[in-house]
Amino acid sequence: MKIAIASDHGGFELKQKLIEHYKEIGITLSDLGTHSADSCDYPDMAKKMAEAILSHDADLGILICGTGIGISIAANRYHGIRAALLYDDYVAEMAKKHNNANIIVFGGRTMKVDDVIRRIDIFNHAEFEGGRHNRRIQKIEEGR
Ligand code: RB5
Repeated sequence: MKIAIASDHGGFELKQKLIEHYKEIGITLSDLGTHSADSCDYPDMAKKMAEAILSHDADLGILICGTGIGISIAANRYHGIRAALLYDDYVAEMAKKHNNANIIVFGGRTMKVDDVIRRIDIFNHAEFEGGRHNRRIQKIEEGR
């Protein structure tokens, strides 16, 4: 599975920690930026990630801004993107089982790296349940 990661300046520190953690266990995250702690605009980072997911350059995206809210709003403007803010462990499981999220989102200023790593793990080990949840996702895709 190809995993891409991107953040604004508010998520930069957490992004770097995640890249380092996954590198240590042999997993390369594709880093779409930002590449410094200088201020930048989270919609630009959400756009890069949405394009990577929709073009199948990545199978899963990790997005981070200060709270996770702005970058979630921006990513979810793209048709076919299902970005979920994983603010606790239960939500991390449900975001895959019920929502089949293709981007998972975190808050660089609101979450601890250990919690984020655990939630990524929970998300990745869960399976989309399909059925009625698929019907609901189809309704979103069709704008119903
Ligand atoms: C940037 O200061 C901050 O507004 C941004 O990272 C994010 O938290 C927006 O929702």
